Amino acid sequence: MSAIKSTTDNVIRFFYRGEVHTVDQATPTRTILQHLREDLHCTGSKEGCAEGDCGACTVVIGEQTADGVTLKSVNSCIQFLPTLDGKALYTVEDLKQDDGALHPVQQAMVECHGSQCGFCTPGFVMSLWDLYLKNDGSQAPSCGSAKQCKPHSQPIPRKDIDIALSGNLCRCTGYRPIIDAAHRMGELPAVGFDRQALAQALQPLQREEMFVYKQGNQTFYAPRTLAQLVEVRAAYPSARILAGSTDVGLWVTKQMRDLGDIIYLGQVAELNVLEVRDQQLEIGAGVTLNDAYAEICKLYPELSEMWQRFASLPIRNAGTLGGNVANGSPIGDSPPWLIALGAQVVLRGPAGQRVMPLEALYLDYMKKDMQADEFVEALRIPLPYAGRHFRTYKLAKRFDQDISAVCAAFSITLDGDKITDIRIAFGGMAATPKRAALTEAALRGQKWNEETLEAAVALMTDDYKPLSDMRASSEYRMKTSQNLLRRFWLETRIDAPLRTDQVNPFVCA
Ligand SMILES: Cc1cc2nc3c(=O)[nH]c(=O)nc-3n(C[C@H](O)[C@H](O)[C@H](O)COP(=O)(O)OP(=O)(O)OC[C@H]3O[C@@H](n4cnc5c(N)ncnc54)[C@H](O)[C@@H]3O)c2cc1C
Ligand code: FES
Ligand code: FES
Repeated sequence: MSAIKSTTDNVIRFFYRGEVHTVDQATPTRTILQHLREDLHCTGSKEGCAEGDCGACTVVIGEQTADGVTLKSVNSCIQFLPTLDGKALYTVEDLKQDDGALHPVQQAMVECHGSQCGFCTPGFVMSLWDLYLKNDGSQAPSCGSAKQCKPHSQPIPRKDIDIALSGNLCRCTGYRPIIDAAHRMGELPAVGFDRQALAQALQPLQREEMFVYKQGNQTFYAPRTLAQLVEVRAAYPSARILAGSTDVGLWVTKQMRDLGDIIYLGQVAELNVLEVRDQQLEIGAGVTLNDAYAEICKLYPELSEMWQRFASLPIRNAGTLGGNVANGSPIGDSPPWLIALGAQVVLRGPAGQRVMPLEALYLDYMKKDMQADEFVEALRIPLPYAGRHFRTYKLAKRFDQDISAVCAAFSITLDGDKITDIRIAFGGMAATPKRAALTEAALRGQKWNEETLEAAVALMTDDYKPLSDMRASSEYRMKTSQNLLRRFWLETRIDAPLRTDQVNPFVCA
């Protein structure tokens, strides 16, 4: 460890309200929301649930990137303060203009009666501001100053509004006036955002060395390179790895767990890989869920609904695909489709890389083939090829922001009507994300017709013995899983396959 260079100032620094803000007394798991409300008495952001569900705490985080800055909405209730080091924090208090006028987002909420009790309102305003920034033209590299930014020239599509607000709950106003405000904000005189100024403000906050922040007996390590990460992981194998904090954050805010030392992945540049290499899409473990799904959906548009239905936008802006795979939950939404597509997981440790089919990572309930000194470095997803048909289906009680009762993924390769390859994987049906080995074997080499389908459907009871829990009964899980296989057949059968809009009520034809 002595070889790793680290900063010793033990101070968290971030850009906040026009200046560099420093923190040196907070515990490493103090949340951004706790710091705002309890230390700074900046109480616009609210705490509704403290678990990333309601959106009352939504803030926008600005971050330096290779080509400028990004701004993204996140849930401040589950993000730890040291993860802000080197970034910018914006809360609802920052939207008021220099002359005291309301920002168009706020003005639109007033005009459209988008608020009643007001508890959810700061969160909605910040989600709408995030949407506003994506549509104000200020992301164009030519736009340097607020005054140069153009008013919104195009109305914002309704689907973009739904996605932007997917993580915000309102219990008294109702959503229609808030959606009206989302349309209205673009009609009001525009207020731009100066990204170049933010990039300049963030530049001096970037560190050359690994950031180490210690309080009491807990240390937060933020390595900057893969080599540093390997070394710090090997030195502290019992430290908790932290990526987007959308699982880990809740262990602190809901379960009051002591995390011990923390190794944060968010500053490791090499983990942000997102590119095609050797006929596979490689996604680094630091890539956010939203960026990862955006790229994968270009290859597999069949995943678009899953992208939209995975949690909410602020959760996808923070959480990572690597975290979804690494936590090993049997009800995670990404492992089934990754396994069905034949994805590989890349682990790294002091001995170098280990690459394996993703299904081999999962040994038993929350038990993985990952050594204490290893971590997930990346995922590799094969590119589409001719003859392959792929679908994934999520069954949950709500469309948005809900955990699956059952998550299914099917990939079939056909030569004429003959099945040359089939991969079926389910979440919610076993202690791990699991392939349907017997069902697959019954289908492989057969004709893709109703007779073989029904024989395979019957075999699923041998592949899976699902549990009953608060999300669904064992019988429901089995029945719906069998029906999802039938639905896949209806969509991919040789004669008259049904279009997605004929089998899915959520699709707008
Ligand atoms: C409101 C809400 C809604 C959600 N909805 C969904 C949903 O619809 N579908 C779904 O599947 N999940 C959902 N989740 C769960 C969560 O968002 C995902 O599991 C997410 O992908 C976790 O990624 P993360 O980067 O936030 O992981 P973290 O919380 O940072 O870490 C999760 C676990 O993985 C480990 N870990 C993380 N990265 C690595 C790595 N590179 N190597 C080794 N170990 C690592 C951590 O130590 C920890 O054990 C939801 C969570 C919330 C709070
Ligand atoms: S307080 Fe509910 S999402 Fe943060
Ligand atoms: S205005 Fe009361 S919860 Fe939304």
